[in-house]
Amino acid sequence: MNKTIAFFDSGIGGIPYLIHLRNIKSDFNYVYLADNANFPYGIKTGETIKEIVLSAIGRFIEKTSPDVIVIACNTATVVTLPYLREKYNIPFVGVVPAVKPAASISENKRIGLFATNKTVSDSYTDNLISQFAGNCEVYKYADPNIVSFIENKMFESDNKEIMDFLLPAANYFIEKDVDHVVLGCTHFLFIHDTLENLFPQKIKIIDSREGVSRQVLRIISDTDTCARFSLRRRCAVSIEDTAKQTAWDSDTGSKINDSAFYLTSSSVNNDYYKKIAERFMIKYSGII
Ligand code: DGL
Repeated sequence: MNKTIAFFDSGIGGIPYLIHLRNIKSDFNYVYLADNANFPYGIKTGETIKEIVLSAIGRFIEKTSPDVIVIACNTATVVTLPYLREKYNIPFVGVVPAVKPAASISENKRIGLFATNKTVSDSYTDNLISQFAGNCEVYKYADPNIVSFIENKMFESDNKEIMDFLLPAANYFIEKDVDHVVLGCTHFLFIHDTLENLFPQKIKIIDSREGVSRQVLRIISDTDTCARFSLRRRCAVSIEDTAKQTAWDSDTGSKINDSAFYLTSSSVNNDYYKKIAERFMIKYSGII
């Protein structure tokens, strides 16, 4: 029986994490839940986030019976992970800002954290920084308008519009003279390439996809793939190209995986979500 791996986010932000793992391991079943009814999480209180995440995850488990759930949302992880683990008897993998690797490779010991308002202000993040980046200056930046733009408009916008949205954030990190920027909101993985173009070469962007995929494989005890994966380097292709590669078997040319994409609410935006799911080779499968 194939293992089922579930990914959860307030919206589309967790898709790059699903694609990254599907690229390594195409024979798992992949299911995805976007809690669009409650998007955005980043400007809500901890109490509210806890309540909505616990409820959505309960329905997601009932519907899909996953073997592992990836909370592919930094905000939800930072606020709810211990509560999820206490309530549901299932392995959870959280997504937290990759501050630790950034601090260890930063040369000038100045790093940027680009995340949601909740993630940059939460005590969890303060602890993460003091534990793993105590020797660095960490500059945090949040802008809920960018998160909403990515969720609702980016895929129908041109490059100029996307750059205009990102310019203040890019300038902030450039002015602070950081040499690494951590993408601490999963939505920002979609703007990785645009951000990279706005940065001078010395600023490198870091995210947590690799660590998260490795952790899922460890939990599933797929030690073989895990070992092979350690030898791979992340290829410099776009998320979309990777999605296309992974949804088709290169030998037979046939579709190898019907990943399923769910929403928590039907809205005027449903067609937009359907199009995005399709773009990333995930089959829109309804409301949970
Ligand atoms: N994608 C989510 C994260 O990683 C947050 C987006 C939101 O504000 O809902 O934090």
